[in-house]
Parts: sequence; structure tokens; C-alpha cells
Amino acid sequence: SRNVTRDPAGRLSVAGVDVVSAVRQEGSPVYLFDEDDFRHRARAFRHAFEGWQVFYAGKAMLTRTIARLVMEEGLSLDVCSGSELQVALLGGMDAARIGMHGNNKTSDELELALSRGVGCIVVDSLDEIARIEQLCEAGGYHARVMVRVTPGVEAHTHEYIATAHEDQKFGFSIANGQAMVAMVRCHYSPSMELLGVHSHIGSQIFDTGGFEVAARRTMKLMAQFTDATGVHLPQLDLGGGFGVAYTSADSPATPDELASGLREIVEHEARAHSMALPALSIEPGRAIVGPTTMAVYTVGTVKTVDLDGGGQRVYVSVDGGMSDNIRPALYAAEYSAVLADRTSQESGVLCRVVGKHCEGGDILVRDVFLPADIAPGDLIAVPTMGAYSREMASNYNHALRPPVVRVHDGQLSPMIRRETMDDLLRLDVGR
Ligand code: LLP
Repeated sequence: SRNVTRDPAGRLSVAGVDVVSAVRQEGSPVYLFDEDDFRHRARAFRHAFEGWQVFYAGKAMLTRTIARLVMEEGLSLDVCSGSELQVALLGGMDAARIGMHGNNKTSDELELALSRGVGCIVVDSLDEIARIEQLCEAGGYHARVMVRVTPGVEAHTHEYIATAHEDQKFGFSIANGQAMVAMVRCHYSPSMELLGVHSHIGSQIFDTGGFEVAARRTMKLMAQFTDATGVHLPQLDLGGGFGVAYTSADSPATPDELASGLREIVEHEARAHSMALPALSIEPGRAIVGPTTMAVYTVGTVKTVDLDGGGQRVYVSVDGGMSDNIRPALYAAEYSAVLADRTSQESGVLCRVVGKHCEGGDILVRDVFLPADIAPGDLIAVPTMGAYSREMASNYNHALRPPVVRVHDGQLSPMIRRETMDDLLRLDVGR
């Protein structure tokens, strides 16, 4: 977050609350969410993309409070399950400003979306289109839809989070004509209004090349649709995926840079196809929430091992791990870490911050220099933990998932409380 400072005693503070007292009050580990920083980033996207609709992608992190903040900051919200939709609505989000995603939405999820009047359903298969039509006929609903297309882009990111190449589960292919078939199908359906085309090329992307290709191919597709039907489609969504800095090696573009880049491309394409500029939208998740949240852990054990090629590495074990951040294990994601409860005059030694799970791959930070006198009881802060960490948290080894505590005006207020053994046992209904 922008609001991290260190006092003369070396204690880190987030938005005016020092992490030592935060841990004393809320326990360890804990995710500290900086409300002011979230609002600031949401606003930066809204201003940079003035005239576009900015959907916050709730999958990165969603709570009722976050839905409220998104609403208050004038953004829209993207959900990808019926449960996310319910949290968004309970948080007070206006249904008309919600977009619903998913490659395999159930009839129950679609029924909920239709009956609550979500602004847009992003359809992803012919089966889903047929299902929506049935529900509309039965319930008297009218569905506003966009067609999710696969623009055939190789986004330069981890394979598991790249979504625009042909051989993966999302969307209709532009290349083989399935996208056009789906668009025509929706357009002539009596129960649907086809708003336009949707593309999402992947996540944690730094270069704009992939977005350029996606914009070019989707705009061309929309122009071809107009040629075929005489109808101009009013909307184009270019998805999310804007990268954030996890370590000093990453240098993401600012919202202003992204906006001017994307604006230029779509305006150019509109001129090239002599078509009116569609209303544009994007869906940033990580770029809004990622940097707002810092995780704080307590060091439990410190152990030094000898490395094969000579030298040593210090294993610093903390009271969490892959159950509260699976990203290093799943995507080889890199993070940084700092000593958070004091300063040290000692020089840095090569450390690996690991969790407490029964698994060698339970690594939080692969390589980081921490002071040589790091010891049990010290606090370690890992920044940029807002996106896809608590959301992808698990109960592996029956871990109790940490709380997400909102920091605002020098106050701490839990958005998600710490899980208890009772919570876990409530699910264990056998005997
Ligand atoms: N829109 C759509 C249709 C998406 O599928 C996603 C992410 C987003 C927007 C938001 O992407 P963002 O701006 O946050 O990059 N669990 C992975 C990321 C998976 C992203 C899935 N879809 C990770 O931890 O890196």
C-alpha cells in the first residue's frame, strides 16, 4: 500500500496502525487491508478510464465491505459464481452494475443472475445460451449478454493464468468462426439482447502487445458482425490482467498509461473499420486490490542449511504458508518480505520464508535477504497480498484461515474474521 511507513523503532505501520499492535489485537497471521489505498486505486482506474466502465474483478478479493467500497467509488463489479454474486448483492452492489462470468454457470446461478437483474451475463458456450433461453422463457426474464471470445493471443504470463490462446476452456474461437455463430445466435434470440464482445487474455501481464492484438481482433469481429447483420454492437470489454509489482523487478504501467494505450488502439481500429466507437469496459482485479493488502506473520523457527555449491541458506518458518498464499507453489509467483517489528544493525543473509505445512513446496518467499539476527517471535511482512491470496486460501492440514482486517482512520475492523476450530468442526458431520 502507499501508506506503509516505518517508525524510528523500526515498526512498520499500515495507514497509521503499527503491525505490532495489529498482531497483538487481531492475532497472527493477519492480512491488513488498507481501505484508503483501495479507494485510491479504484479511483485512479475510474479517472484514467473516464467514459469507460470499470468492473472490479471480485475474484481477486471480495467481501461485503469491498462490494460497498466498489459501489461507493462508482465502479462496476465482475463476479464469476453465484456465491460471489450473493456477496456483491449483500454488500449493496447495484445489480445493474454487475457482470457475471463463468464457463460452466449452473442453472441456479443463471436463475439468480436473471431474477436479480444483473447488468450483463458473459456467455461462454452454446449450452449456456440454450440454458439462458429456457430460464428466460420460464421466468419471463430478458438477458443482456456479451459473448466471450478467444482472440488467439499468447499472453506472456504463467500458462495457468493465460486465457486467450485457442487450446483452453474459455470462450468462443474467433479463428474458427464459433464466435460469430454464438453472436448471431444471441442476436436473433427473442430472450436476449446482445451487447457486444468480451475478451480476457490472462493475468499479471506487463506488455500491452497482447491487449493490442485482442482489441484488433475483437473490433474486426464486431465490424464483420455489422456487415453480416446491419447491426452495430454497442459494447466491447477487454477484460482484466494488468500486472502489479510483487518485487522490485516488476514495473507495471500506471492506469493512465494503460488507458491511453488502449484508447489509442480501439480508436484506430474504429477508424480502420469505419465503425462507431463502442462503449468500452475493462475488469481489473489484481491491479486494484493486490497492493492494498499486506500479510503479517510471526517467525516460529530459524534453521540454517548448507547449500550444495557452498554457502548457506536460512529457512525462516512462519505461522502460515501455502494455505494462505498458494501462489508461489502454484505459479512460482515471487514475493518480497521484510522484518516488520524492529530494525536491525545486522547485515542481510539469504533466507527462504517457508510455512508450517507438511510439504516441501510450502514456500512463501523463495529468496530474500533478511537481517542475520532474525529470530523466533519476530514479525515478517509480505506486501502485495491482496489479490488471489485469501481468496485462494485453503484449510490444508486443517489450517484456520487468517482474518482480513480493514485499516481505516487508524482503526482496525475485521472484514473476514479468523476461522476457528469450531468453524472447521461444524463441517465435519460424520461420526
Ligand atoms: N476478467 C476475467 C474474465 C477474468 O477471468 C479475470 C481473472 C479478471 C477479469 C481479473 O484479472 P486480474 O485483473 O485480476 O488479473 N489466480 C490467478 C489469477 C487468475 C485470474 C483469473 N481471471 C493468480 O493468482 O495469479
